[in-house]
Amino acid sequence: MKTRVVSNISELTTNDPTLGDESSLGRLFDAALVLDGERVLWVGPNSEAPDADEAIDARHRAVIPGFVDSHTHLVFAGERSDEFEARMAGVHYDGGGIFRTVAASRAASRDELRQGTKKRVAELFAGGVTTVEIKSGYELTTEGEIRELEVAREFSDEVTWLGAHVVPPEFKNNREGYVELLCSTMLDSCAPLARWADVFCDRGAFSVEEAREVLERARTKGLALRLHANQLAHSGAVALAVELDAASVDHCTFLEDSDIDLLSASATVATLLPGAEFSTRSSYPSARRLIDAGVTVALATDCNPGSSYITSMAFIIALAVREMAMSVDEALFASTKGGALALRRGDVGHLGIGARADFAVLDAPRAAHLAYRPGGNVVAATYRSTLRRGVVVDQAV
Ligand code: NIG
Ligand code: FE
Repeated sequence: MKTRVVSNISELTTNDPTLGDESSLGRLFDAALVLDGERVLWVGPNSEAPDADEAIDARHRAVIPGFVDSHTHLVFAGERSDEFEARMAGVHYDGGGIFRTVAASRAASRDELRQGTKKRVAELFAGGVTTVEIKSGYELTTEGEIRELEVAREFSDEVTWLGAHVVPPEFKNNREGYVELLCSTMLDSCAPLARWADVFCDRGAFSVEEAREVLERARTKGLALRLHANQLAHSGAVALAVELDAASVDHCTFLEDSDIDLLSASATVATLLPGAEFSTRSSYPSARRLIDAGVTVALATDCNPGSSYITSMAFIIALAVREMAMSVDEALFASTKGGALALRRGDVGHLGIGARADFAVLDAPRAAHLAYRPGGNVVAATYRSTLRRGVVVDQAV
């Protein structure tokens, strides 16, 4: 196995508190990183770096763990920029546009879905993402959900079945019938293709009782659980996520103190998606209340054509810092280690010894430039330990 040394790193964030300054960011300055194939082998001062077969000169720039984008809806056809414009002019987002994307996705060929997904994955990776979760949920038929999961699997192992996104038009007057389909044929066919089950448990989507039924059933089929909760209104969805030990409860735009108490006593991560608040002109979630209460917070893009057509994790970090009063370090941690915890992955989101060799070299001396220079190309190169089926991410520094 060939070893590689990444030398002359001005600021190395490892997210391993046993390394460097022993903060939660595990930070080192004037550092080097040695990789053994797909794993981190050594981390330390640049002057003490051991020899390796190959060298990458970071040229006094910062290195961070690759971003873990733990919430996306990348498999879809069409676009909804007209809705975005209407919202900026004052129209309220209620999720109703999901039906337009369902219609466009059902009408698209598999290759069109694949090409669109590939383009969005490439944009994410170019911006420093090395692990991405991808949901289905824009076809809402057994065949269609299978097709979306199969496309998602071409790009990631973190694939989520979201058949319970909304009740599709053909079941408008028979929502019990759709829940029954979700819990039987559709789940049976989709479970082998996914790692996760998710439900949009919110006003206009699924109730807490319906979500419980789908998620409990999904768990019996071997799927691990996550939940869209409280994006549009407050409900008991956070309590349900905690009760079911979901890995993550996502959005959390509306939270009561009791939700925060429940989360702080649980292993469920609160995944915040400020791109959705940005794109729907909504109030941002209370990141400070969550963090100050000891809740583990993740940040993700929620990339989808309706509420957050965003493929830049750096932009999400800038929003978190500017609009949710997170420090740059909190936002960086939430985008890397937080995302990994939201996917219950110990091998990504950090650069401790033995971690996957997934990292980004920034075109900046410090990681703070991610938020300080929003809109710029702060990520110079993304290194991902494994190329998956032709998606090229290992760019030259
Ligand atoms: O996470 N909230 C539900 N689903 C997506 C939005 C879907 C859409 O508008 O197309 C979300 O924001
Ligand atoms: Fe979402």
